[in-house]
Amino acid sequence: MRGRICIVTGANSGIGKATALGLAEMGAAVVMLCRDRRRGEAARAEIRERSGNDAVDLMLADLSVQTSIRGFVEEFKRAYGRLHVLVNNAGVIAARRTVTADGLEMTFAVNYLAPFLLTNLLLDVLKANAPARVVNVAGSFHRMAAVNFEDLQFEENYGVARAGSRSKLALILFTYELARRLGGTAVTANCLHPGAVRTGISKGLRWYLRAPAFIMRPFFLSPEEGASTSIYLASSPAVEAVTGKYFSKMKEAKSSPASYDGAVAQRLWRVSEELTNLERDAR
Ligand SMILES: NC(=O)c1ccc[n+]([C@@H]2O[C@H](COP(=O)([O-])OP(=O)(O)OC[C@H]3O[C@@H](n4cnc5c(N)ncnc54)[C@H](OP(=O)(O)O)[C@@H]3O)[C@@H](O)[C@H]2O)c1
Repeated sequence: MRGRICIVTGANSGIGKATALGLAEMGAAVVMLCRDRRRGEAARAEIRERSGNDAVDLMLADLSVQTSIRGFVEEFKRAYGRLHVLVNNAGVIAARRTVTADGLEMTFAVNYLAPFLLTNLLLDVLKANAPARVVNVAGSFHRMAAVNFEDLQFEENYGVARAGSRSKLALILFTYELARRLGGTAVTANCLHPGAVRTGISKGLRWYLRAPAFIMRPFFLSPEEGASTSIYLASSPAVEAVTGKYFSKMKEAKSSPASYDGAVAQRLWRVSEELTNLERDAR
């Protein structure tokens, strides 16, 4: 991975930190996209020390705020101008319905719309430096979900599991549609389930929602184990030409039937362009 530039979002903890560490250990230049300077700096210092790689940078952005994503992209392009790997890893579980500064439901905004916007804004530098890869961290919970275009923002009937699973289904639909649109280029787009991993992702939930995961915790994967499929998709020559696929345990797998609905994927893309003002950018 020497000479390759990688962005990992949510790289200050859990699977994202282990992914950034793994890529740094392989010699890549890693840009950690984090929202909090103190947490980001602490993780960067640890990754630099453990990997012996100084080319680990921290850039701040709040993925729930679209102007912040746009600011990050401008800053990144000014500083680097090139990109080979984008790992959309950051994610949230929101116990209650929360609305972002852009007026969007938080889980939908961070887990799905942020990767949609960030990836689209970085496509020019990915294409110009191909072969390049987009890796989206989804999860197996998407299997419970369907996209409801009548209530994308969960104004009615919010549920933490419903919102989380639907955001990941949207991310998988986006991955497949992106791969279709990137056909004929050397930029690939894949997504993955990291496994059940011991991280702080459910820290904001009430105790009775955290209890099952707490009991199962000894059986969960470590963050390093959980990062293995992200690192594999970001770096392995074995998947250089593989695109539009879902992986689990470093192997291609099937996602839910709903995730392969091309008409839903295209409609979601159009709605997402409107919600992120991407169409205005293209004009
Ligand atoms: N753990 C599992 O079993 C599991 C299973 C399936 C899928 N996943 C997925 O794996 C990914 C990584 O999660 P994890 O388990 O490693 O949990 P984690 O340790 O909580 O990591 C989540 C990361 O996302 C960042 N983040 C959240 N909101 C953000 C925002 N608005 N702007 C920028 N960064 C933001 C967090 O930053 P802060 O530290 O600042 O909050 C943190 O760095 C997520 O997409 C999650 O859905 C995890």
